[in-house]
Amino acid sequence: MVSRVSCREADGVAVPRNFGELALKTLKRSNLYLQELKVTHRDDTIVIPVTNVEKAIAILRSQHIPCRHLRMCFPSKTTLRHATLRDFLRDKVPQKDLERIPRSFYIVGDIALISLDIELAERYGHLIAEAIMKLHPRIRAVYARGETVGIERVRRLIFLGGEPHTRTIHRESGINIVVDIAHAYYNPALATEHERVASIIATTPGAKILDAFTGVGPFALHIAKRSWCYVVACDINIYALKLLRESIRLNKLRGHIEALNVDSFKLLESLDRAGILFDYIIMNMPHQAIEALCHALNAVRSRGLIFVYTIAHSDDEALSQVKNKTLECRGIAFRVVEVRRVLDYAPRKYIYRLTLERT
Ligand SMILES: C[S@@+](CC[C@H](N)C(=O)[O-])C[C@H]1O[C@@H](n2cnc3c(N)ncnc32)[C@H](O)[C@@H]1O
Repeated sequence: MVSRVSCREADGVAVPRNFGELALKTLKRSNLYLQELKVTHRDDTIVIPVTNVEKAIAILRSQHIPCRHLRMCFPSKTTLRHATLRDFLRDKVPQKDLERIPRSFYIVGDIALISLDIELAERYGHLIAEAIMKLHPRIRAVYARGETVGIERVRRLIFLGGEPHTRTIHRESGINIVVDIAHAYYNPALATEHERVASIIATTPGAKILDAFTGVGPFALHIAKRSWCYVVACDINIYALKLLRESIRLNKLRGHIEALNVDSFKLLESLDRAGILFDYIIMNMPHQAIEALCHALNAVRSRGLIFVYTIAHSDDEALSQVKNKTLECRGIAFRVVEVRRVLDYAPRKYIYRLTLERT
């Protein structure tokens, strides 16, 4: 998500949530509500921006509404000018360094993740965290995001400011996903891809799906939210599956998700040997998934689809990776339905999804 929220510092009154409506009505009636700014929610309180804080507090107290003064950055209702992260840092960071601070950052639940050099993180981390939390008052912690490492693809992080926590609930197209950015893979930039694949699968009610590298289960959750189906969601990271099980309980799902802690390379081999067939197989492990392609092609029914992800410089390279690998799968007929660039991975390197249909 890009930092495009306009925000202005102002005086406000914080009142308990259950008094919110009454307080707002009272302040509006007394012309004390600062109309161009938005009322903001914080824990169990709501904070109302006001034109005169002393008067506002006096009026609320006369109505027996508990309240306290809070000066903070309120989101603006106007979109005339968008404040940016760099606007907030301009007075504090020299111009040459300011230009190296990214304009945008990811938001996962109440956590912001920004790509930063270690040197910039050490020097300006606390200022950047402060600025992001001013821009987005709902953000509680800010981390510098490094690369994902190891077999479980967990991200390296540097804490920059706020309240240190890595577990949060992220909302992705109406689905609550329990995430722990320090212990399991999750990338909010894949949201559209999760939806896209789920919308293809939803055309087959009652489908049997294998999400072989599920992580915290975003594909599985999107699919099970849309249609009645059976999803086997596998991962080697047991903690990721614990989070997925929490998400299953949090969301109203139409389909059933079975979260399995297995090595999916071995599972695909066993399915191939046993002749067990799925309607769809998702293989989102771009570094390695292609290795299991022959087994996957044998474990999908005729006209069934495989969504396999890989890292390549171009569409042609992604396609030839698949073609080369499938030379090893003797006697399996398939066609490539789609080659789609999904994400940037490194300079001039991308993550691709190839959709294969078993013919
Ligand atoms: C790139 S993440 C994909 C997560 C998920 N599909 C998503 O869209 O957010 C790859 C996942 O594969 C898991 N993984 C790696 N090797 C595995 C294996 N041999 N068997 C099962 N899961 C594996 C990792 O733990 C990680 O969660």
